[in-house]
Amino acid sequence: MCKVNFDKIVERRKNETNSVKWNYGFDGNALKENQIPMWVADMDFEAAEDIGKAIIEYIKTYNSYGYFTFDGYHQIVIDWCQKRYNWNIKKEWISFTQGLVQGFSCAIASLAKQGENVILLTPTYYPMFNAIKMQGCQVVESNLLYNEDTLSFTIDYEDIAKKASDKNTTVALIGNPQNPTGRLYSIEEMSKLADILIENNVKIICDDIHCDIIVDKSKKYIPLASIEKYSEHTISMNAPSKTFNLAGLKISNIIIKNEKIRNAFAFECERFCVNTNILSLIACSTAYSKCEYWLDEVVEYIWNNYLYVKNYLENSILKDYIKPVPLEGSYLLFLDNITLMKEFNMSVSNLKIFYTNKCNLSLDDGIAFGETGKSFMRLNLATSRHFIEVAMDNMLSGFNKIKK
Ligand SMILES: Cc1ncc(COP(=O)(O)O)c(C=O)c1O
Repeated sequence: MCKVNFDKIVERRKNETNSVKWNYGFDGNALKENQIPMWVADMDFEAAEDIGKAIIEYIKTYNSYGYFTFDGYHQIVIDWCQKRYNWNIKKEWISFTQGLVQGFSCAIASLAKQGENVILLTPTYYPMFNAIKMQGCQVVESNLLYNEDTLSFTIDYEDIAKKASDKNTTVALIGNPQNPTGRLYSIEEMSKLADILIENNVKIICDDIHCDIIVDKSKKYIPLASIEKYSEHTISMNAPSKTFNLAGLKISNIIIKNEKIRNAFAFECERFCVNTNILSLIACSTAYSKCEYWLDEVVEYIWNNYLYVKNYLENSILKDYIKPVPLEGSYLLFLDNITLMKEFNMSVSNLKIFYTNKCNLSLDDGIAFGETGKSFMRLNLATSRHFIEVAMDNMLSGFNKIKK
């Protein structure tokens, strides 16, 4: 039985939540009236009730915000990894950063020297490009292969092998589930990729921030680092932020088995005084220890939102023009606009104008994720059904406005 009402609309427009999503569009312009923001990857849902209760209880009981230890929190992360992924990790393998993006910088700095190459599978989460460049390293893109018939993205192993064999290539930063494509690479795909990388002495940073949100029940997430053979070559990153809608609390778990890499990572964290805050620890411990039911329900809700969008697209005039890339993990749906652009002679900026002005939506431009994403738009499904329904009607009426 459903305990959580995800249909409830949580007002975040122009109020003290200071929501990025509900004040600005992806382009940085102020959101227009009635424009629906479906870009930045947070959820519009209230967090699990127990999380708020635990924070309030702490404030009522202690109202104390001095320096604190992580002692209890390690065990919570250990238990979560064990329960969710059957992954046995040790306390000393775990450290914490204020979000994965901060973790990217520390991880890259600890594994690569300035000027070295870092591989990305593109299209990919755009802050990865910046994190690499900020460390003085070079981005080497390996484009995912896109099949227009099955609408699916797969790894180009030949290309990876070529790029990994360059002596200047030392690191690969890989997201799984993949943002923006929604792909969950199977453990076979990940292993094949890792074998190539390791053979070429390339270390792997796994961004697994979306790993708790596997919406396609026929798929299973297995952390690469949970496989003995790969564990010493990998920095693994996950977090409660996407899983439980806690991104503004800024906490993520970094798991490193290899002692040498761990020390190098710790050095970088110390260099930049990386830390987090006491309220994040309370929120995250509560989420991991008491709120799995919420996660199960939100995954189901997102899946149903996905099915709604998919059915809408497939059963309307939009069918031949806008196509949903099959969603396996995360709540981010990549929309293929290849035919739309061809038929209506749209450039990348026309595509953006279509969604912004004609459909009154704010989505992420696919091109922001790399050149391979240029004919796509990314739509965030983690919102109440009401907005999903309005968004789809907007898309249809936007299309009717441009139809010849
Ligand atoms: C793949 C991926 N990695 C990292 C992040 C951001 O992580 P954080 O907010 O923990 O820095 C996001 C947010 O959307 C993401 O999609």
